[in-house]
Order: sequence, then C-alpha cells, then structure tokens
Amino acid sequence: MAALALWVLAAISCWQYGLVHAQPSPNVQKRISAAIKEAGASNSTNVDYTQFVNVFIGTDNFGDVCPGASVPFGMVKFSTDLTGYAPAGYITDPSEKIRGISPLHDSGTGSSLGTYGNFEVMPMFCPGGFNTCNVTLASRERFRKNNTDDASPGYFSQTLDNGIKIEATSTRRAGLERFTFPKKGGKPYFVLDLANDLPASFMGGRMDIDPEKGRITLGGRWGSSFGPGTYSYQAFACYDILNGGKQALSEYGVWTGMTSEDFDAKGLGQTSLNLTRNLIGGVYESGALFSFEGNPTEIDFRVGVSFVSTDQACANAESEVGDTSFEDIVAQSKALWNEKLSKIEIDVKNTPANVTEMLYSSLYRASLTPNNATGETQGPFAGTTHPYFDSLYCSWDTFRTFYPLMALHSPVEFAEIVDNYIDGWRKLGWMPECRANNVPGWTQGGSSADNIVGHFAMLYHNEAAALGIDLNELYSAQLADAEINPPEWNTLGRQVNVYKQYGYVPFGVLDTQSVGRQTREGSRTLEYAFEDFGVRQVALLLNKTDDVAKYTNRSLFYRNVWDPQVVSDGFHGFAQKRWPNGTFALTSPVDCSPNDNSTNRECSLQGDNVVGFYESSSWEYSWFAPHDTAHLIQLMGGNATFVKRLDHFFDAGYYLAGNEPSFQTPIGYHYANRPTKSVDRVREVVFTNFDITPAGLPGNDDQAAMATLLAFHLLGIYPVPSTSQFLVLSPFTPKYTIHNSYLNVSTTVTTKGFDARSVKKTIPKGAAAYVKSVTVNGVESPNRCHFDFYDVFRVGGDVVIEVTADKNAVDDCGSGLPESISTGGFAVAR
Ligand SMILES: *[C@@H]1O[C@H](CO)[C@@H](O)[C@H](O)[C@H]1NC(C)=O
Ligand SMILES: *[C@@H]1O[C@H](CO)[C@@H](O)[C@H](O)[C@H]1NC(C)=O
Ligand SMILES: *[C@@H]1O[C@H](CO)[C@@H](O)[C@H](O)[C@H]1NC(C)=O
Ligand SMILES: *[C@@H]1O[C@H](CO)[C@@H](O)[C@H](O)[C@H]1NC(C)=O
Ligand SMILES: *[C@@H]1O[C@H](CO)[C@@H](O)[C@H](O)[C@H]1NC(C)=O
Ligand SMILES: *[C@@H]1O[C@H](CO)[C@@H](O)[C@H](O)[C@H]1NC(C)=O
Ligand SMILES: *[C@@H]1O[C@H](CO)[C@@H](O)[C@H](O)[C@H]1NC(C)=O
Ligand SMILES: *[C@@H]1O[C@H](CO)[C@@H](O)[C@H](O)[C@H]1NC(C)=O
Ligand SMILES: *[C@@H]1O[C@H](CO)[C@@H](O)[C@H](O)[C@H]1NC(C)=O
Ligand SMILES: *[C@@H]1O[C@H](CO)[C@@H](O)[C@H](O)[C@H]1NC(C)=O
Ligand SMILES: *[C@@H]1O[C@H](CO)[C@@H](O)[C@H](O)[C@H]1NC(C)=O
Ligand SMILES: *[C@@H]1O[C@H](CO)[C@@H](O)[C@H](O)[C@H]1NC(C)=O
Repeated sequence: MAALALWVLAAISCWQYGLVHAQPSPNVQKRISAAIKEAGASNSTNVDYTQFVNVFIGTDNFGDVCPGASVPFGMVKFSTDLTGYAPAGYITDPSEKIRGISPLHDSGTGSSLGTYGNFEVMPMFCPGGFNTCNVTLASRERFRKNNTDDASPGYFSQTLDNGIKIEATSTRRAGLERFTFPKKGGKPYFVLDLANDLPASFMGGRMDIDPEKGRITLGGRWGSSFGPGTYSYQAFACYDILNGGKQALSEYGVWTGMTSEDFDAKGLGQTSLNLTRNLIGGVYESGALFSFEGNPTEIDFRVGVSFVSTDQACANAESEVGDTSFEDIVAQSKALWNEKLSKIEIDVKNTPANVTEMLYSSLYRASLTPNNATGETQGPFAGTTHPYFDSLYCSWDTFRTFYPLMALHSPVEFAEIVDNYIDGWRKLGWMPECRANNVPGWTQGGSSADNIVGHFAMLYHNEAAALGIDLNELYSAQLADAEINPPEWNTLGRQVNVYKQYGYVPFGVLDTQSVGRQTREGSRTLEYAFEDFGVRQVALLLNKTDDVAKYTNRSLFYRNVWDPQVVSDGFHGFAQKRWPNGTFALTSPVDCSPNDNSTNRECSLQGDNVVGFYESSSWEYSWFAPHDTAHLIQLMGGNATFVKRLDHFFDAGYYLAGNEPSFQTPIGYHYANRPTKSVDRVREVVFTNFDITPAGLPGNDDQAAMATLLAFHLLGIYPVPSTSQFLVLSPFTPKYTIHNSYLNVSTTVTTKGFDARSVKKTIPKGAAAYVKSVTVNGVESPNRCHFDFYDVFRVGGDVVIEVTADKNAVDDCGSGLPESISTGGFAVAR
C-alpha cells in the first residue's frame, strides 16, 4: 500500500532527517561487515547467509519494516512496540519509548495506526510493591538504553534504560521471551496487556490466570488496521510463565485503567477479566500484573498464539517449542532462514560488500511475509483445508516484483499462496486484494490477484497440478474478478459493470448496482486493464480463443483514459479521468507528484482525492501499460520523444522509487531500443534510494515490494508480471546462482567483464557495465534486452551476460524489442 502515509507524512519528515539515529547497536553493522569479509576470504561452501542480513534496514524513514524475531513467513514476529509512528512495532528513533514486547506484527505496511501489537508484555521494577506499579501504556513506557538494540534472523533484543534486557526468538506460531534483570534491581514485575494493540482497536476479550499452572490465557476481538472499522478479527495467546518450574510466582492479579482519566485499579489475587466492547468509545486498558520470588536475574516466558482459540495457542507453544531452549530455537530459526537465503548464492569475494548486504537483507524480507496462518483460520475461512496466509497487504504492491522473485526459486511456496488466493474466491466470491488482520482491507487498483495467480500459471502450468493448483479453478477465480460486479468494491473485486459498459471507469457515473468510493478513475482503469491482461494470459494458456480476444481487447482499455490534448512540461498526452459522456475531466499531471506545490492535496483513498489517481500523479501512472509499451510509445509521440520524456520524468523529479507504479519506469528505455540508458538509470535509482542503513529504503517496504524491486535491480533482471519474459540489465555482482528447489535446476549468471568500479550511482567512463551479449548455455542470444523463463531459469545452466564500457556500440537490443501486445507480442504461452 505504498505511499498511503506519504502525503500525510511529507509535512513531518523534515525533522526526522535532522535527527542522528544512533540505533541499532554499532556492533550489528560491524558483525555483518566482518562476516562478509570473512566469507570473501575463505572458500567455504558452507556459508551462513543469515550473517549478511541487516534486519534493521527499513526501520527508519517510514520503511515500516519489522526487525522482530520470525521464521520465514512466520505468524509470530516478536518485536517491541514503540510510541510514535511505528506501524511494525519497532522504530529506531531514540526519542520514542518502549511500551512492551509482543508476538504479532506485520512488516512493511504503511498503515498509519499500526497493525497488530496485541498481547504486549512489559518488565519493570516496582519498589513500592504491587499497587505502585505503572501498568497503563502511558505510565509504563520507557526509553531504551541507547545504542544497544540488536537483532538478526530469528533473534531480537532491546534493553530498557533501567537495564532490563528483553530478548525473543520464535517458531511459526510460538516462541520464547527472555528477560535479564540487573543485579540488585529488586523484585521483577510484569504487566501483560489484554486490551491494547497498536491501532487501539479492542472490541472485548477475556483473560484468565492459572497461578498453579503458571499459565495466563487471553484473547478477544480487535479491528482491522487497513479496512472497514466494522470488521474485526479474533486472536489468542497463551503465556507459560514458570519456565518449567524454574521460576516461582510471587504476586499476581488483574488491572484496568484509563490513561486519560489517570487511574488504574488493581486486584491482587484476582484471576480473570471478562470485558465487552466499550460502546461509548475511549481507550480503556486492562491486563495482568505479576511478580516472581527470589529476586531472579533471568525470567523466561513461553508464548503461543492462535487465531482460533486459547487452547490452540497453548497447544502451539507445546508442540512448536515444548521445552526446547532459547538457543536451540534461535538455531532452528537460523537454519530455516539459511535454507531460504541460499536459494540465491553470489560470489561474495568479488561483490561489493554493500551489495551483498542489501541483497541478502532484501531476500530475508522477501520471505518474511505474508504471515503463514495455515491451520489458524477464522470467519469464512474457519477450518479450510487449504493453506492460509494473512497480511496480503496489499496485492497491488506485491504483484509487480514480490511474487515474480518467489517464482524464480520457490514454486512450492508460491503455489501455497496462489491456493490461498483462490481460496479467497471460493469463500468470498472474489480473490483477496488487501487482506489485513484476517479480514478484507481496502482495494487499491482493483484485483491485482489476477496478475499474481496469472504469473504462477504462466510459469508453472506444467507443474500446477502436481503443486496442487487446478488451472481451471484458477481461471474461474480470475473470471469472477473480471466479470462479477461486487455489491461493494471498496474491499473486494472491481467496479466492472461500468468499466465494461464504458471501456473505462467513468468519473461521476450513476451506478445503481454497487457502492464504493468513486475516486481514482484514471488509475483504476489502468490497473483493471493490466488485470485483464493477466486473465487474457491464462485464457491463452487454456486455449479459450474467444476469451483471449475479449480480454486482449479489454487489456487495451488503458488507451481509453489517454487524453492526447493534455500538455505538461512540454510533453503531450497523459492519462486522465473521464466523464461518462466521454469528455475528459482535466486535472494537472503534476498533482500528487513530488513536484506538486499543494501541501493539502489528498492523494490516497480519501474521498476528496480528486486527481483521478491512487497515491500517484498522472506523470507517474501514464507509463503504466507493461504489456503494451510499444503502443504507449506511439501515444507519446515516438521513440525519441518517449526517451526524452523518460529522461525528464527522472531528472525533473517525478519518479518515486518508493511507489509501486514507478517500479518499471527505469527500464522503460529498453522498449525504445536504448538499453544502456536503462542500465544507467537503474544504477542511479539504486544508489539514490537504497542503502544499508535503517533509513535505507525510499518508503514503506510494502511487504517487501521494495526489497524485491531492489533484489531484481541488483541481479540485473526485471520481470514482466503475468508473462515469462525477463528484461535483461547489468548485474551488480560478477556471479550468482539461483536454485529452484522444486524443478531441481540451478542457473548461474556470470557477468563477463564485470567491473566493480561500475557499481555506483554514476557509471564512470571506462567502467564496463553495458550489456554487450547474452549467452545462454553456450548459445549467444540474438537479443540483449530480454530472455524467457522457459529458456533460462526453467532449464537451468549457464547464462553469461557480457558487459562493456563502450556504451555507444551496444545501445540497441539486437534482434527485437521486448514484447508488446500491439506489435504481436505475447502471441503464445510457453
Ligand atoms: C580459494 O580458492 C582460490 C582458487 O581456487 C585459491 O587461489 C585460494 O588460495 C583459496 N583461498 C583459501 C583461503 O583457501
Ligand atoms: C537516548 O537518546 C535520546 C535522543 O537523543 C534521548 O532523549 C534519551 O534520553 C537517551 N536515552 C538514554 C537512556 O540516554
Ligand atoms: C510511576 O510513574 C510515576 C510518574 O511518572 C513515577 O513518579 C513513579 O516513580 C513510577 N513508579 C514506578 C514504580 O516506576
Ligand atoms: C463473559 O461475558 C459475556 C458477556 O459480556 C458472557 O456472555 C460470558 O458468558 C462471560 N464469560 C464467562 C466465562 O464468564
Ligand atoms: C505454512 O505452514 C504450513 C503448516 O505448518 C506448512 O505446511 C507450509 O509449508 C508453510 N508454508 C510456507 C510457505 O511457509
Ligand atoms: C492448447 O493448445 C496447444 C496447441 O494445440 C496444446 O499443446 C495444449 O495442450 C492445449 N492446452 C490445453 C490446456 O488444452
Ligand atoms: C474492443 O471491442 C470493442 C467492441 O467490440 C471495439 O469497439 C473496440 O474497437 C475494440 N478495441 C480494440 C482496441 O480492439
Ligand atoms: C460531459 O459531462 C461533463 C460533466 O457533466 C460536462 O462538464 C461536459 O461539458 C460534458 N461534455 C459534453 C460534450 O457534453
Ligand atoms: C512550484 O513552485 C516552484 C517554486 O515557486 C515553481 O518553480 C514551480 O513552477 C511550481 N510548480 C507548479 C507545478 O506550479
Ligand atoms: C521505435 O524503435 C523501434 C526499433 O528501432 C522501431 O521498431 C519502432 O517502430 C519505433 N517506434 C516508433 C513509434 O517509432
Ligand atoms: C556502504 O553503505 C554505507 C552506508 O550507506 C556508506 O556510508 C558507504 O559509503 C557505502 N560504501 C560503498 C563502498 O558504497
Ligand atoms: C526434485 O527432487 C526431489 C528430491 O529428489 C524430488 O522429490 C522431486 O520430485 C524433484 N522434482 C522434479 C520436478 O523433478
């Protein structure tokens, strides 16, 4: 959901840049740098890839990345929750305070209120005893001990300014928390929060303390973090607080309180709370408070979570953690991460260290979400026999690069998620667009799932059945999105009734059959058209000739919002919203771009977003027809003007690296037969917008949409969604191997002539970086701009991308341009 907060935050980001953030601990970067150096020096084949991962990248500058302890696709992500703007719990800003540590988080979402953060626990000292403890959020918050935050795949730690150290490690649905107290600190107390989640959305719940067993169970209902306020979800947790009998409970009880009223009422010895929703509003808080005997310096909790019941939360802790030690759970988690990270191996020795760190940190986040909640289903999905993933947050973000990267190496995981998308259609009638907190979230472009499942079908139709996917069912789910107008299209499906009738989504149309927020008509038309291309591709695969014609036609509807009359900065023709009578409703193409001088224009889902585009300007969205760029070039006035316009787009500052509709634009030059300019642009984009610091992302990671964009840029390839075509660029590393664990093939890409001096923002004269030839398994390709999955990653083997410093000699594609519908491209499915 990209830049949801962008416009709101633009105003306050200035003071952010002024701060010197001394988090995380400097040892984190030192450790990573040393590991990369050592791996480069040794010839060991047994590389621990987790050492190269900096989980803190994207925890500042509104990257909203969760650095918490998680296994790949973990439902549990243990992180502290901080005050201020911290949608994923943790942020680096040392002027913000810690509220506690909690097991449920999302990563990289722009939800302005935050998401999850339920079941927080906070350690503390209360020298005056039980009744003097500060239990409410506002009173218990504490600063961190600066420069000590530490985390790595499977492990998270932070220390409070009173010296109490908090650590955590996890399995898929459970984990361990370890608290270390300073000697002579006194009796340790803990507050366990029943009501507060990050968005303060409590709708009632229950907590029970069993002091004999040393078990606290709690659960309830909370509201969606990015969807209708009427939707709610249930969640449960189970805390085992005696560490198998090694810890003895001293006092225990419950509390409720209200920060705004400055009260908290405690009940020593009481064991349950049963609270319904406070209908008058206001945040009331409640939870448990307990202490331990004997001034221990270490206290350990085992925590299980579930979306089904407290019993299941306890069972998850028992089966996934049992009595395994903290260190062993860390080791298990690291092993799972290594299995994922080693799907792409690089020549560490000859790759610039920052590139290694950016790549593996990106690959880490590329397997961090969505959250695997298989077996933890509720509502319409209760008891489904299919895999289930939460936090598809949002498909508009992830169809472009996230799933295409997964498709290269992990078709089994991809198939599970595709099955989950199809299951959304089975249960609700349309595939999910932005599932957040287990309930439908706001729709962004329409039904981008069509391009996600379409991409799977194009690459894995031969293996689909073996992977548990019925292609006819997949196609039926796409057809539902494309043909069935939902009564309410804010959360599912598209407004296809008027789209089909007019050939575009009209502005100000009378819709007697369905409701939704009537904004974003320009961008909805562009995205609906590309979604139709995703349907068309599967129709092609399944030999549905009539449907191919129908959806090919609909995929060209993007042309219907093209207004040739609009001029901006001297360039002619821009996408615009349009009235039902065909007249265009002019808004400036600059509106909602970084060059927009208005400080109060609404550009996201707000009802008064009048520009016609979602989180973007017309300058930005007018490039969006990935399946038909050849025709877009014609609309823009030919190759020379197109190239000039692309140059202006970047140089004048209309490009937004942190916004998904901009993703493919740096490679647009390929389509005008100027591939060396794409290489220059990608180098510039990477080194202007990404680095290895916590502020090293250009915006919300958007469930690793940014991470996977960066990974593709570093690898020198770029996917065209819903097709098997890859655009070829210049890798930032001399050699990498992609292992496909299902096909059992490995593909090694060697950059012949690689010059590390070229790996910077501006490629210096004389540094080889421009693609001269592409050779696949010994056969030189007549083309140096693109290749096909079926010729490369499907079969494995060796790809040699030869690079040269002689830019002028190689500034054309060779035998043909990347495909476009209007020039006869995408005629067959491979
Ligand atoms: C690594 O391998 C290279 C080439 O085989 C060799 O020259 C070098 O000495 C080896 N380095 C170590 C530390 O074993
Ligand atoms: C940490 O740094 C912040 C910002 O400089 C400061 O406000 C805070 O007091 C520091 N905390 C400690 C424990 O020194
Ligand atoms: C609780 O908060 C108050 C107000 O900030 C503070 O004076 C008091 O020392 C705190 N009590 C404990 C036990 O930390
Ligand atoms: C909790 O309260 C609700 C009503 O608010 C009631 O229906 C339910 O029976 C109570 N549960 C228990 C276990 O007391
Ligand atoms: C999700 O969890 C289920 C149940 O443990 C497991 O079978 C499946 O492999 C997991 N999928 C992924 C992508 O992690
Ligand atoms: C579609 O037609 C092609 C060519 O005739 C054939 O190879 C393929 O098996 C057909 N696919 C389906 C799903 O019928
Ligand atoms: C799509 O179909 C409509 C109606 O049949 C037709 O008028 C239009 O020209 C077609 N558009 C394209 C781009 O083929
Ligand atoms: C189309 O409708 C709009 C809005 O009602 C109006 O401003 C415009 O003049 C109409 N165009 C024509 C050609 O009637
Ligand atoms: C925005 O303001 C700047 C500085 O005054 C001006 O140069 C620029 O033309 C303005 N842009 C627009 C789109 O009005
Ligand atoms: C752009 O250049 C390509 C390759 O040189 C050519 O095939 C194509 O026709 C040109 N497009 C336009 C609109 O001139
Ligand atoms: C690596 O990244 C750090 C942090 O952004 C930066 O200071 C340093 O200059 C980079 N090193 C190189 C060689 O680019
Ligand atoms: C890949 O290898 C595994 C393990 O040997 C085997 O189970 C699997 O069937 C192979 N996959 C394919 C597509 O051949």
